[in-house]
Amino acid sequence: MGTMTEILRLIHIVNAMLMIWPFYALVAVNQRGRLGPPLGDRVDVYMENIIKNRTIPCFVFQGTALVSGIALVLLHGRTLADIVMDPILALKFIPLILISGLLTYVHLSLQPRIDALFVQAGGAPASPEQAKQIGPLRIRRKRLASICLFVVLLSTMLGVQVWAPFPIWLTAVLTAAAALFTWRAYSSVTPYGWA
Ligand code: HEM
Repeated sequence: MGTMTEILRLIHIVNAMLMIWPFYALVAVNQRGRLGPPLGDRVDVYMENIIKNRTIPCFVFQGTALVSGIALVLLHGRTLADIVMDPILALKFIPLILISGLLTYVHLSLQPRIDALFVQAGGAPASPEQAKQIGPLRIRRKRLASICLFVVLLSTMLGVQVWAPFPIWLTAVLTAAAALFTWRAYSSVTPYGWA
């Protein structure tokens, strides 16, 4: 394998590691959930600032995955058509486009609505009426983060079998394991790491 391919492969893998952020975002928001309804206090400001300031890095990592992934396909002597014709590559490419769309929705629509509600509260504890509106928006954001986490896990699992596919049954078992892990990350603080 050429040096260029090796460097790109390394970039692609390190980038994939950095894309696991939705997992840690879920850990943080699940801990916040334990403190009760939104208050607009320093805890909320701290959490919202961290979450919203990860949007641009997430776009950068998605772009890097796409560009390095396409370059790897071409460097292996395959064509652009393979990105949609090869089932494994298509299963990495199409969901990446999906999560870019979800991130755009969070960035342009969901997050500004959450921010506006906290601004309305003006630093004072959110009224029960405002808390009632913030809660469902945060839950929707959390669900979308879970979809992103699942896609990153799936793409990683498919990444190691791009050139030498696993048997279908093993891919199915690993997909189920990724779904289970995502569900645990969504619904708990995963106190035991994997579970
Ligand atoms: C969510 C996005 C993605 C993640 C998390 C991801 C992750 C990974 C990982 C962990 C590998 C294993 C590398 C190895 O062990 O050799 C890999 C390989 C690969 N990925 Fe991705 N990937 C993503 C998106 C893409 C996209 C969009 C493409 C192409 C359009 C792509 C093309 C490839 C190729 C061709 C390989 C094989 C590299 C080689 O063996 O040289 N990936 N990916």
